[in-house]
Amino acid sequence: MCKVISVCNQKGGVGKSASAANLGIGLARAGQKVLVIDNDAQGSLTASLGFNEPDTMEYTLATVLGKIIKEESYDPEEGILHHQEGIDLMPGNIELSGIDLTLVSVMSREHVLSEYIESIKDRYSWIIIDCAPSLGMLTVNALAASDSVLVPVQVGFLPAKGLEQLIRTINKVRKQKINRNLRIEGILLTMVDGRTNYSKEIISLIEQAYGGNVKIFEKPIPLSVRVAECSALGISIYRNDPKGKAALGYESLTKEILGNPLNGGGAL
Ligand SMILES: Nc1ncnc2c1ncn2[C@@H]1O[C@H](COP(=O)(O)OP(=O)(O)O)[C@@H](O)[C@H]1O
Ligand SMILES: [Mg+2]
Repeated sequence: MCKVISVCNQKGGVGKSASAANLGIGLARAGQKVLVIDNDAQGSLTASLGFNEPDTMEYTLATVLGKIIKEESYDPEEGILHHQEGIDLMPGNIELSGIDLTLVSVMSREHVLSEYIESIKDRYSWIIIDCAPSLGMLTVNALAASDSVLVPVQVGFLPAKGLEQLIRTINKVRKQKINRNLRIEGILLTMVDGRTNYSKEIISLIEQAYGGNVKIFEKPIPLSVRVAECSALGISIYRNDPKGKAALGYESLTKEILGNPLNGGGAL
């Protein structure tokens, strides 16, 4: 059984792409078969996995979605790239911004990405979707196709308002029957500066606001230049700094997600 997780927060620069890459590779290191999908026109997941010029790529997620919109046939494996650390990637690039606009006037416009995912799902145990910093059509498509949403939150910026909007969108997706079973996998605190007390404040704020209904992952991801380096090197934190706190944080996130009974529990 394949589980699909969207990494989502409409704020940019909170560590979505870094988390999608390191969760994906973390799952692969635990023996899982993983596809990560770059659903952001900025193509930063694609670039950060070492595929440096996404905008020059001919076949990307935008190509497949375009074919689905036009009801053309496609080979579900076409365009999938292989990363040295054992995950597959469906790259994304600037052409996704055109797709985002086109989708508005398409029939079943929320379910175009779902159609693609349905066609490749049986080849993977996990699909991780890296979302754009927006709540536009492509993000709604990701939510429609997902079992759950992982929300990276950058500590140090008061996140309560943005989170509320994201949770409202998730609730809308459920209520409008776009995806009735969508869950929130949890909130991942990112870029935590160990010298400040922000994280405790933020954790208690989130707990107050959501009454403990939303899980906060146990280990925050520290602010670390070693994480930032990964995207330039095209490798994961497990390779770049295996013993550092960031690697331990992403390992712990991976374990919690693998251990969640709603994901099939102990899929290991
Ligand atoms: N824990 C971290 N510590 C330091 N820098 C980070 C960390 N996580 C991500 N970054 C860097 O911060 C920038 C934004 O992260 P990114 O994952 O691209 O965010 P988003 O996808 O939410 O826009 C990138 O340059 C990335 O390499
Ligand atoms: Mg990103």
